[in-house]
Amino acid sequence: RGCKLVGCGSAVPALSVSNDDLAKIVDTSDEWISVRTGIHNRRVLSGRDSLTSLAVEAGRKALEMADVDPDDLDLVLLCTSTPEDLFGGAPQVQRVLGCRKTPLAYDITAACSGFVLGLISAACHIRGGGFHNVLVIGADGLSRFVDWTDRGSCILFGDAAGAVVVQACNSEEDGLLSFDLHSDGEGGRHLNAVMKENKTDDMLGSNGSVFDFPSQGSSYSCIQMNGKEVFRFAVRCVPQSIESALEKAGLTASSIDWLLLHQANQRIIDAVATRLEFPQERVISNLANYGNTSAASIPLALDEAVRGGKVKPGHTIATAGFGAGLTWGSAIVRW
Ligand code: ACO
Repeated sequence: RGCKLVGCGSAVPALSVSNDDLAKIVDTSDEWISVRTGIHNRRVLSGRDSLTSLAVEAGRKALEMADVDPDDLDLVLLCTSTPEDLFGGAPQVQRVLGCRKTPLAYDITAACSGFVLGLISAACHIRGGGFHNVLVIGADGLSRFVDWTDRGSCILFGDAAGAVVVQACNSEEDGLLSFDLHSDGEGGRHLNAVMKENKTDDMLGSNGSVFDFPSQGSSYSCIQMNGKEVFRFAVRCVPQSIESALEKAGLTASSIDWLLLHQANQRIIDAVATRLEFPQERVISNLANYGNTSAASIPLALDEAVRGGKVKPGHTIATAGFGAGLTWGSAIVRW
């Protein structure tokens, strides 16, 4: 039993924030941000936009392209590190999409690797679990966790959602040719947004131990990042992962049509492409307009490339996500 990608969609918030806009709130410049990252603009959640509304819009567009009715979905996977409910956002996306007969929806949390993990999870559910149609949505609202006084990180991130429909097919049509996934908790200190325990009171438990409890609930710190370490990790691990996935598929970089990496920094994309000997014209990049949109970046760029006529049916794509955790992984897919 195989699985293939049959539709994609994306959605971004209405509010656009340029580098010049950021230069009004932190000590930076359009030139510094453009040269060091390749980013010119990003979209930021505000007003009526919510993470759920973006996820639903992206999912709806993907279903339309795939010509799949919401009721015919067997599973909705919401890949996000910023759900609007701590307990998970996928069931609300399922509800708003109107998937009344869909038995299951759940979240996958793996920061910027979330979409690749969601794609592989969808394939596993189809190949091993008998599911037919799975909607994989990558959506993140990192602007809500950015320290807007930290010029080293606030310039990087934007909000968005992207989605694909993964469908069961026979093995000859299989569109997921191979994958390679990793995590490393040791490196997690270089990029995180950890829970802050606001200890304000304590209570003596019946067994004599003291229980500190936050009177107002807990919250999360802003994103803390060692940019240089994250850069080094990405440039070292991503090419290795793609090479490993290519080897498993019995392919080489020269036989792949497109390289589509998580859109974190143009210098990371360029370095990985150079290491793998991918020419510029076969590298997909749209981070100039959206910045790093975490789990959304790969399906957002894929959707633009498909609708723009770059990626055509039958094309092969080497894709890779990487980020907090640390987590990273790649997949070789056929569109
Ligand atoms: N504007 C102007 N100057 C700045 C800015 C800014 N926005 N940010 C930093 N600087 C200054 C620094 O203070 C430093 O000044 P100094 O030399 O006087 O000390 C100088 O510029 C160089 O700073 P570096 O941090 O060394 O700059 P670097 O070239 O490493 O670029 C960047 C920083 C863009 C963050 C880069 O390291 C990067 O992109 N790293 C990867 C980060 C990333 O992709 N994170 C997300 C991963 S995905 C996820 O899971 C969320």
